[in-house]
Amino acid sequence: MKPTTRILCLALASLQSLAAAVTISEINGNKYISPYSGQSLTDITGLLIAKGPNGIWIRSTTPDNDVATSEAVYVFSSTVGANLAVGDVVSLDAKVAEYRSANTYIYLTELTTPKNVKVLSKGNPVVPLVIGQDTLSPPTVQYTSLDGGDVYAVPNAVANLSAVNPVLKPAEYGLDFWESLSGELVTVKKPTAALRPTSYRDTWVFGDYAVTGKNAHGTLTMSDKDSNPEAVLIGAPLDGTKNPTTTKMGDLLEDITGIVQNTFGFYTILPLTALKVTTPASSAAPATTLQSLGNCKGITVGDYNVENMAPTSSHVPKAAAHIVNFLKTPDLMFIQEIQDNSGATDNGIVDANATLTALVTAIKNLSGIVYEYADIDPVSNQDGGAPGGNIRVAYLYRPEVLSLYNVNPGSSTEGTQVLDGPALSLNPGRVEPGSTAWSATRKPLAAQWKAKGGKKPFFTVNVHFSSKGGGTSLHGDVRPPINGVVDRRIEQANVTGSFIAQILAKDPSARIISAGDFNEFAFVKPMTQFSAISGLVDLDDVVSTPLPERYTYTYDMNAQALDHMLVSPALASSKTTKYEHLHLNSWAPDASVVSDHDPSVALLNVCGC
Ligand SMILES: *[C@@H]1O[C@H](CO)[C@@H](O)[C@H](O)[C@H]1NC(C)=O
Ligand SMILES: *[C@@H]1O[C@H](CO)[C@@H](O)[C@H](O)[C@H]1NC(C)=O
Ligand SMILES: *[C@@H]1O[C@H](CO)[C@@H](O)[C@H](O)[C@H]1NC(C)=O
Ligand SMILES: *[C@@H]1O[C@H](CO)[C@@H](O)[C@H](O)[C@H]1NC(C)=O
Repeated sequence: MKPTTRILCLALASLQSLAAAVTISEINGNKYISPYSGQSLTDITGLLIAKGPNGIWIRSTTPDNDVATSEAVYVFSSTVGANLAVGDVVSLDAKVAEYRSANTYIYLTELTTPKNVKVLSKGNPVVPLVIGQDTLSPPTVQYTSLDGGDVYAVPNAVANLSAVNPVLKPAEYGLDFWESLSGELVTVKKPTAALRPTSYRDTWVFGDYAVTGKNAHGTLTMSDKDSNPEAVLIGAPLDGTKNPTTTKMGDLLEDITGIVQNTFGFYTILPLTALKVTTPASSAAPATTLQSLGNCKGITVGDYNVENMAPTSSHVPKAAAHIVNFLKTPDLMFIQEIQDNSGATDNGIVDANATLTALVTAIKNLSGIVYEYADIDPVSNQDGGAPGGNIRVAYLYRPEVLSLYNVNPGSSTEGTQVLDGPALSLNPGRVEPGSTAWSATRKPLAAQWKAKGGKKPFFTVNVHFSSKGGGTSLHGDVRPPINGVVDRRIEQANVTGSFIAQILAKDPSARIISAGDFNEFAFVKPMTQFSAISGLVDLDDVVSTPLPERYTYTYDMNAQALDHMLVSPALASSKTTKYEHLHLNSWAPDASVVSDHDPSVALLNVCGC
């Protein structure tokens, strides 16, 4: 080659590399999916801000002014970091890729197959961005622009973020905010653990920035159209240490510094090292203040999903202790998830008398109080739950205060009818057990009761609607997220609500209580429709429970209410009506959890006139 040709070649090569020197913010772009996805780029330059087991993170040395474009990116390679150190400014060639490990997750923009890695300088300072100070404050209400203002809007799954690829608005939408920091090294100041760690020891937290929905225990409760996108998941530490398993709701933590990364379907901060609790929260949830009057003028009514209880379950005495010491042995208990006498063994046994006797005996052992119980066996394996477990709803009641009115129990397949009176044709009886709304799930159990001193019998409907199985997460690609089995719960609300409406049609002043695990939030269609069709009112509304204190369950980042107690207008308008949620399980460390739900207790005048 002649010298002149060689010079020309060199000049061309450097022109090409100049043209190809794309900045990290240009690689990320201002949307979820990179405009360079699939392309190979050369001379990508950045400051090495953190190293992990499978790659490094680099931050642009030529940032732009756009808050929507992240200045950092993950370089996926288990070998790239070997000879590099945090504080190096490096340049490399790599391919831009969009990665996710499941098709309902949001993609991570990353660089793969790095080559020609050069260290341009060493020992540069690496300063994390303090969330809410060096960055915007995380949005506290909405998740994405594709949720129509409500992540629980029905229908679900009308769009995918990856397909629409909206321009990020990190001041308005929580997921846009976290995406706009993808790959960045950040610090969360004064974090609070939102709830117990997951089975992978990952913990949801929020920092000292502005939040909404804070409850008296110091964590976040979801409410209508506000499901707290300001919280973020803390994942596996980059230094190989392990996060604690004993963290619990409301614990205060040391400041967390780590990398923002979408992993396993969630915006996560991968901390440089394991979380440390500085100030543990109290797990000593108070007992109910409500006291039975021992007659119709003030009966106490409890509701508790006791989570797959079999006669031999180790949590039988613990649930009994909750009922005795914290619920103060209510006159009437709505119970869910009583398994049959053989527990989750699939042997055709459906009778649960041993299970209910075990619970009643444990309560008697602790308190001397003797409950009676009422339930109806399902047809084996037709009511969902663990195969062979045959979970069902049941009532426990104190016979010195309450009795079933004109006892006439129905069978598994007979639906009780509302007769003139009003009265139930079968007492207790299941509500439309043949309806397709209940295929493979628990049927509601209706009953009519006489309370000591009461003039008119009152009614109850104990429910356990289908669970949210098969849903997608609030952090997922699918918008609004799939609220698993919501259509079925809407049907169940319709059937149960219509049944209750028949009682109220015959007697608008009827005392009716419907409670249980509705597996749905008060502000989502199955519940709003249940209230509208049945004519019942949510006791949280009746007694004006502050919105952040309305929770019976914890999931992902949120305290939330799946369990509800609703009453007819005659009970809703009574000035003596009271209602409390007891956070016996939500606040507890993992080792002390008795059930995945919290119980609730109400005080109601069921006398009638
Ligand atoms: C969203 O993505 C999933 C998974 O790829 C796909 O099955 C679904 O049809 C998409 N939904 C829409 C509304 O495009
Ligand atoms: C359950 O019912 C069966 C059949 O009626 C009876 O033999 C058994 O003693 C009962 N068990 C308990 C614990 O009550
Ligand atoms: C109740 O107490 C009796 C007698 O002490 C004991 O045999 C039984 O195991 C206890 N049952 C429960 C469910 O705690
Ligand atoms: C309730 O179900 C009935 C019978 O399937 C149906 O006709 C009615 O439209 C439903 N109502 C609502 C509000 O969904």
